[in-house]
Amino acid sequence: MLEQLHKLEEAALSELQSLNSMEALEKWRVAYLGRKGTLTSILRSVGQLPTEERPAVGQEANRVKLALEQAYDDKAKALKQQETLRLLEQEHMDVTLPGRRVEPGFLHVSTQTLREIYAILAEMGFQVMETPEVETDMNNFQLLNIPLYHPARDMWSTFHTTREGVLLRTHTSPGQIRVMRMYCPEPIRVILPGKCYRYEAVTARSEFMFHQVEGLAVGRHVTMGDLKGVLVNFARRMFGAERQVRFRCSHFPFTEPSAEVDMDCIVCGGKGCRVCKYTGWVEILGSGMVHPYVLRNGGYDPSVYSGFAFGMGPERIAMLKYRIDDIRYFFSNDLRFLQQFA
Ligand code: FA5
Repeated sequence: MLEQLHKLEEAALSELQSLNSMEALEKWRVAYLGRKGTLTSILRSVGQLPTEERPAVGQEANRVKLALEQAYDDKAKALKQQETLRLLEQEHMDVTLPGRRVEPGFLHVSTQTLREIYAILAEMGFQVMETPEVETDMNNFQLLNIPLYHPARDMWSTFHTTREGVLLRTHTSPGQIRVMRMYCPEPIRVILPGKCYRYEAVTARSEFMFHQVEGLAVGRHVTMGDLKGVLVNFARRMFGAERQVRFRCSHFPFTEPSAEVDMDCIVCGGKGCRVCKYTGWVEILGSGMVHPYVLRNGGYDPSVYSGFAFGMGPERIAMLKYRIDDIRYFFSNDLRFLQQFA
């Protein structure tokens, strides 16, 4: 048996020397050291030898096994090195070729517009807060003075979920309730930006998903004069100091009185064009004094506190600012459009 082991060692090592590929080396390993390999079967048969022969044969078999394993590792290392050298010699690398440029990313035009809005309103003391996009019917409508039967619901065609009373918010106004309940009875001055969803036909002016920025100020002695001051200032910071702003009577169930805010058309300077539908004015947002019913739902006593709120659409604002004539460009992921804002 001992002799058999020595012969095996000698044969294996000489065979190993002549190998010159990793595939051949693997075959060698399987033949000698694999589960059904020659050395492995010898090791297995040691147990059947007479007791007195076992220790010597066992010891020698283990020594041969270690020797072959070591020889295998050395050969593998040598073959890898050989392969690297071959690649270096055969494959040329031209270090003078110019590198491939990595294009840096940039902010989406909606995000850029949102940040501009934050910056202007932050200077007027408004803090930015985020409120959920998936809302309850209660917050989105009922607590905002729009009960289940109310026809005003038609102004906000809604995506409902399969869970009763849970929907995708149609505007950022439900955030008013959340913020008031969080801060009552402290004074509030916040803006609430985020995505809104409406189940309506997509057109050049309307998307089914768009952003809004809600503004809310609540405190003692907050007046319509404060609302006008903030919004006129905002329009002039956003669109230029020469802008004219007008407040037009409107109706929202959650504000009283309510006003829509128009600005003289920046495209034609008020003379009348396609963008302003030949009126000279373009609507930029909805606003009003927070309805007493809504203040009460937020926890504030309307005989002590008052507030104003507004809601604007940053995509519509960007359309005016950059003369974009179709809102569908914003989210259709066409780089030819998006890269113009890089
Ligand atoms: C509202 O959603 C009210 N919540 C705004 C408000 C807030 C009034 C607080 C009073 C007090 P309205 O439906 O008009 O109102 O939407 C407000 C703005 O969101 C619009 O002026 C417009 O800029 C934008 N907007 C509305 N619908 C779409 C749409 N489908 N696609 C793009 N922008 C839209």
